Order: sequence, then structure tokens, then C-alpha cells
Amino acid sequence: MAPSTALSATEVYTLWVLIGTSIAIVANSFHGDGEPLMVSFAFSLFAFASTFSLIRWLGPSFMKVGLKGRDMAKAKRPEIPETMGAVCAVVYLLLMIAFIPFPFYKDIVAATSGGGNRDVVLHVEHVETGRFLHRFPHNKLASYLSGLLSLQAITLLGIGDDLLDIRWRHKVLIPALGAFPMLVVYFVDFGVTHVVVPVPLQRYFGQIFDLGFLYYVYMAAVAIFCPNSINMLAGINGVEVAQSLVIAVLLLLNDFLYLSPFTPYPHPAMDSHLFSIYFLLPFIGVSLALLCHNWYPSKVFVGDTYCYFAGMVFAVVGILGHFSKTLLLLFIPQMFNFLYSCPQLFHIIPCPRHRLPKFNAVTGLLENSVTEWTVPPSPLIAAALHLLHRLRLVGIKTNENGDIVESTNLTLLNLWILWFGPMKEDRLALSIVLLQTVCGLFALFARHQMALLVFPADNRSLWSFV
Ligand code: UD1
Ligand code: MG
Repeated sequence: MAPSTALSATEVYTLWVLIGTSIAIVANSFHGDGEPLMVSFAFSLFAFASTFSLIRWLGPSFMKVGLKGRDMAKAKRPEIPETMGAVCAVVYLLLMIAFIPFPFYKDIVAATSGGGNRDVVLHVEHVETGRFLHRFPHNKLASYLSGLLSLQAITLLGIGDDLLDIRWRHKVLIPALGAFPMLVVYFVDFGVTHVVVPVPLQRYFGQIFDLGFLYYVYMAAVAIFCPNSINMLAGINGVEVAQSLVIAVLLLLNDFLYLSPFTPYPHPAMDSHLFSIYFLLPFIGVSLALLCHNWYPSKVFVGDTYCYFAGMVFAVVGILGHFSKTLLLLFIPQMFNFLYSCPQLFHIIPCPRHRLPKFNAVTGLLENSVTEWTVPPSPLIAAALHLLHRLRLVGIKTNENGDIVESTNLTLLNLWILWFGPMKEDRLALSIVLLQTVCGLFALFARHQMALLVFPADNRSLWSFV
């Protein structure tokens, strides 16, 4: 029997309360100065409520058109809807477009002639440069829209990937296509390609170094890495969304450090970090709703669409907010997973279509999944595998001749099982979430405390209160 798509009475009640609260906050913002931050929060409540219901309602329709997958870590391997990230992305994009008037309306009206608001007196320098208020200057609108364009592009490409099941070697470049609109607008609108040189290197390169077109290569690399690395740290219930939520919340924490009262008002990086908050709050709303359905035992899968979309949200805020290095610091588990996976990604070690941990139907626990060596590895690779085995970085099985016949798949999830033994799926997901949180908090702390070791100043002057 197909699972019911109806919302329970408690769910309906809770969602209405959330929607009512969000409408009240937005309505209230019209009386005052239009508080974009509060409205963004209200939009994220609305995003949660609408995504939560839509995912429940749309499941069967997705399955009917073939957007479904088998949950491989369950005894009966049930088929459930896939690509639910598309629902998140569509709700998110529509709300981000509806949000535009809140941070931009007054700037656009007041700074352009004939805006119908002529009694607003603005000084020339304010019209030229934007005002130093909690609203950003209207020239930020180009960045904002380019971010949305890139997110729209990646969503379309992600849905295409989920429909067509594109091969890995081709799909790694999909995010580069998605990032294209953002990079083009960056080129014509902002165009800064300078970086601050760390103190020890300043003797050779000076204080500021122009990376030129290499800066675009770097930004494209960030935009390729973020989505793909989330898609690679995947395969057990909830892990894709949960890791994205941790990254988003940590980014939000970092953003708030640049706002009053945590830093003296007004801080020069404040606008960039407000920009980031406006992108992150609704993302957290749609992702939390998805997690409710995707956490163990999953009722839906997120699809590559969600992984790409989430990664691109991070790339957009990191690149357009000019804190891509901080962003990358929050991807330590993903970076490790990527580097650890390289031998399989580059086919030095065979790479099966799926590398997710293997479900043992007798114990109900997840165990290491392996790649089988039909032809024994070359002596060099065998020596490397034996060494990694001794370092407890890979599990191997040998035959009576001492040839390697099996080695564990090189993913962080498998390594965790290798270190801590077989475990239940939700415990493994929770472990990864905790790891992500601890690494991220440490990285943020180190980023602000240790910046002084390599840079003349941390860009948050008041951090020393910690
Ligand atoms: C990536 C990984 C692949 C991993 C897969 C799992 C690389 C190079 N590729 O491939 O090793 O197996 O993600 O998502 O690292 N699934 C579950 N339970 C879950 C989530 C997914 O069983 O909680 C299965 C379902 O059958 C689902 C499928 O994984 O249909 C989705 O895989 P897909 O996203 O297409 O894999 P890739 O992203 O290509
Ligand atoms: Mg995937």
C-alpha cells in the first residue's frame, strides 16, 4: 500500500503556526523601516512550512515519473522518491525572488530618478555609494541576482543529472556550468582579483597581489568543489542534508560575528555578511524540512539536485561575500573524503558505482563495503595498500597466495566503520554530523585567532574579546 501523503493534525497545526508567525513578522516590517533580517527569518519559517508539506504531497508524483531510488541499507530495500532537493530549490528560489524588495526597495526607489519617492533627501555620496545602513546599496542587486541565476542553473542541471544518471567523470564539471552566470557578473560588476598576501610572503609579492584570471579559476574551483564534495560524502540516510545544515549554521555564526553588537558598527564587511545571511536563512528553512523526511529511516532521498544546490549556495555566499577561504575551512571532512577518495576517483583502485557502506541484514548494522580485485593489484599498489592497512587507513583481504582480493572503499563513512566497528545507520550519520560540527567550530576559532600569525590583522577587530 502506498504511504499516505496527508499531513497529520499536529503537523497541520504546527505548520499553520509557523506560517502565521512568518506572515505576522512580514506585516509588522511594513510599519517600521522594513527589517530585512527579520523578514529573512520570517521567509525561512515559511520556507520550512511549504517545503515540508510539498515534499510529503509530491512524493508519489516524483515516483510515477521514475524519480525514485532503492534504500540500500534496509532489509527490504524499499523504493522511495528521489530528487526531493528540487522541491527545496524551487521553494528557495521563489522566496529569494520575493525577498528582493525588502533589502533593496528603498535604495532602488531613492537612488533612481522618477522613483516616485522624491521627498526622500539623499546626499550625493549616498546615491553614488549606497548608504551605510542595514540595507545594502542597490549595486549589490546585481550580485544577488547573479547568485540566484547560478542557483537556478545548478538546479536545472541537477535535475538533469538525477533524470539521466550521468557518469561521474562528466558530472563533476556540472557545477562549473552552474557557476558561470555568477562569475560573468562578478567580472563585469566587481572584478576584484587581488588577494592579501600572508606576512611571510610579503617580501616577495608585496602586501596585495593581483591573481588576474587565476582568481576566476580559483572561484570556479571552489564552485566545483563545494557541490561535488557534498555529493561524495553521501549514501546514508540524512547525511547530505545534515552536513549542509551544519555548514550553513556555522557560516551564519561567522556572519553574525561581523554584525553589531559582536563587532563595532559599522563594519566594512557587514554588507557582505548580511548578503550571506539572506542567502542562508531560507536555505536552512528548506533543508530542515527536507531533513525531517530524509533522516533515518528516510521517506525520501535528496538526489544529486540537493547536493549541487546546497554546495552552490555555499559557493555563492563564499565567493560573492568574499570569504571563500573561511568557507573552505568549514569543508574539512569533505576535503578529507575527497583526497581519501582520489585513488578510486582516478581509477588507480577500482571504483564501483556505489561505495556506500554495506548493510548486514542479520545484525542490522552497516559494515565496510569493498571493492573486489578481479586481477591482483600491481606490486606498487599492493605495497601502498599494505602500508595503508598497517596505518589502519584501509581494510584488505588476501588469498592464500598473499594477493589482495578485496579492499575497503575509500570513503570517510567506510573509514569510520573501520575505526569504530559496524554501527547502525543513524549512529553513523550522527557521528559524521558531530565530526563536521567539531571540525567547523575548531576551524572558525583557528581562522579568527590564528589569522594574526599569517596576516597583519584579523578582519574582525573585536574578536580579541574571546
Ligand atoms: C555518490 C558516490 C557513491 C555513493 C552515492 C550514494 C562517489 C564517487 N560517488 O554517487 O559512491 O554510493 O553517492 O549517494 O563518491 N542511497 C541510499 N541511501 C541513502 C542515500 C542514497 O541507499 O541514504 C542510494 C539510493 O539507491 C539512491 C542512490 O544512493 O538512489 C543515490 O546515488 P547517486 O546520488 O545517484 O550517486 P552518485 O552521486 O553518483
Ligand atoms: Mg549523489
